[in-house]
Amino acid sequence: MKRLTMIADFLRARFPLEKMDLESMLMKKEVPVHKMSWAYYLGGLTLLFFTIQVITGLLLLFYYQPTVTEAYDSVKFITEKVPGGYVIRNMHVWASSAMILTAILHFLTTFAMKAFEKPREITWWSGLLLLFITFTFGFTGYLLPWHQLSVNATKVGLQFIGAVGPYLPGKLSELPNKLIEIIQGGASIGQETLSRFYAIHVVILPLAIFAILGLHLLSIQLHGMSQGTDDKFFRKEKFFPDFVVKDFSLWAITFFILFVLAITIPFDSFFAYPLMEPYNPLGSTPEGIKPEWYFYFIYYPMEMLPFWIILVISGVVMIVLFLVPRVFGGTDRKVLRFVASIAFLYFVIMTIFGEAIFNLVKGGY
Ligand code: HEM
Repeated sequence: MKRLTMIADFLRARFPLEKMDLESMLMKKEVPVHKMSWAYYLGGLTLLFFTIQVITGLLLLFYYQPTVTEAYDSVKFITEKVPGGYVIRNMHVWASSAMILTAILHFLTTFAMKAFEKPREITWWSGLLLLFITFTFGFTGYLLPWHQLSVNATKVGLQFIGAVGPYLPGKLSELPNKLIEIIQGGASIGQETLSRFYAIHVVILPLAIFAILGLHLLSIQLHGMSQGTDDKFFRKEKFFPDFVVKDFSLWAITFFILFVLAITIPFDSFFAYPLMEPYNPLGSTPEGIKPEWYFYFIYYPMEMLPFWIILVISGVVMIVLFLVPRVFGGTDRKVLRFVASIAFLYFVIMTIFGEAIFNLVKGGY
């Protein structure tokens, strides 16, 4: 009973619903102005890319066929034959990478600004879930065109889940393989896998993200923007109309840039294998297959280090991320900025030089 009361008190302090009126949410809300204020735009940018994903994704659904015999051809048809199809598909692919990038930057800057502090723990935890869902969108979407690279890269991704098994005790060791079977819908990749990835990508994840995003945004509106700086004196600007006008202007510029990119540069041209052949189960695995760029930060270390080290580090990082409001509650913002910068630097180095480092290490054996 005491525990229930504690949970109720915790939730009442995080969701002061009496503040739920348009006046406090729009008219009274203010945004601090200081040298890290630019970071307050990153959540909104992520939201813009998510909105673009929903709209372009719905349009792609008109023509995409989730069957192993038709998926590849339907994507080719969208790209080559459907009027505007190339732009819609290219926007969806560009915006998926952009959304992941802004979500990562938003995650690091909210950490650096100590925006996770009481009473914003639920904003932080829901944010972590959003980040996980965003990556899962990328992973599941990659399989849908059903070409050699996408299917083989998915196989590799799933193998990593299976590799966790031997490190778990007793019956738990069977869990990863069971999970793969559930995701895959059978012993190997095939129609069931495509159907499941499709269901996850277009129904389950969107439902989950809408619910969690709702919680995230509600909690932000109830508590307003966090101070974000250690400075005692700083200006504040009105959320409405000052910040909103700048936010929407940034959205318009970003949308314009994305649109120009989508009509001029096919995202596929960055792949080692632009829209390659349809998947052939009897065909050979393409050489040097790797996941999308946003997984390199974990993929290359997995290729270079013993798997148990990766497991220990990932486990510790996940626990620490969950406990951030408690572990870093009393930490100076300067230290938080330093930790976030190191994390960002690591991400950039692994993304740009991961392959070179991998070749260097492999060549050294
Ligand atoms: C789909 C992904 C996400 C979307 C669409 C989103 C959206 C937003 C928006 C619109 C804001 C208000 C403006 C701002 O402060 O930037 C915000 C604030 C916030 N977000 Fe997110 N977010 C996402 C992911 C994350 C992640 C991954 C984290 C961290 C784990 C996070 C933690 C926070 C926190 C702590 C705030 C409060 C900032 C403050 O009070 O200063 N969010 N988010």
